Amino acid sequence: MTTPASVSTSREPAKIAGMFDGIARRYDTLNHVLSGGLDLVWRRRAIRALALAPGARLLDMCTGTGDLALAAVGGAVPGVDVVGVDFSGEMLRHGLVKVRAAGLGGRIRLVRGDATRVPLPDGSVDAAAVAFGIRNVVDRDRACREFCRVLKPGGRLAVLEFGNPTLPGWKQLYGWYSRVVLPKVGAMISGDSVAYSYLPASISQFPEPDQFAEDLRRSGFSTVEWKAMTFGTVYLHIATK
Ligand SMILES: C[S@@+](CC[C@H](N)C(=O)[O-])C[C@H]1O[C@@H](n2cnc3c(N)ncnc32)[C@H](O)[C@@H]1O
Repeated sequence: MTTPASVSTSREPAKIAGMFDGIARRYDTLNHVLSGGLDLVWRRRAIRALALAPGARLLDMCTGTGDLALAAVGGAVPGVDVVGVDFSGEMLRHGLVKVRAAGLGGRIRLVRGDATRVPLPDGSVDAAAVAFGIRNVVDRDRACREFCRVLKPGGRLAVLEFGNPTLPGWKQLYGWYSRVVLPKVGAMISGDSVAYSYLPASISQFPEPDQFAEDLRRSGFSTVEWKAMTFGTVYLHIATK
């Protein structure tokens, strides 16, 4: 996938946070519409791969409006508690409304913070997840070291991120969809013409799955596995501390 010349892929933290503040109100609707509801399936698969034990404490980094946190607490494993961290105040505000509406304020705590300085002590969570957030983090290696630091020994990290499909036919279709349809529909529904052009541009700059697996190992994880979902549209990395 090529980066359209006019699209800024600046990953300056304040700009990224501002961009998510701007689209927070329409974020969930757009996620579900643009992925055809698959985003819910991808998050559920990431949660299953974490193999949470009853009563586990989960960090949902880049939690946004809290969909992964809500799915984890509402899943099959009883007693899961989540700390959701994000640097966009507006995304968190919309997340808080959903958490309260679900009556889960006692189980999901939403905290403002940066992925490169996770506001949690060493070895304090059983598992961690980042859904569609790591691509936006400027100092990705530092963030991965932070995820490793806050995990207990043996704890798992699940990272969901978009990929660049290579399957003939799907590659062309997805390329057209993400370069043409997605920015147009995104701009129409969110009213922000930049944010949904930034999405395909930033995806094209994210490392290939083998390379990202290597980055995770270098950050301190002992084993890393990955699998492609929906023909390589999304990759799930599972790393164990
Ligand atoms: C595409 S959204 C994903 C939200 C959510 N995880 C989901 O699955 O829908 C990316 C989120 O990452 C957050 N984010 C990006 N970089 C961050 C950073 N360095 N620290 C904290 N949050 C960050 C953004 O504010 C945004 O809410």
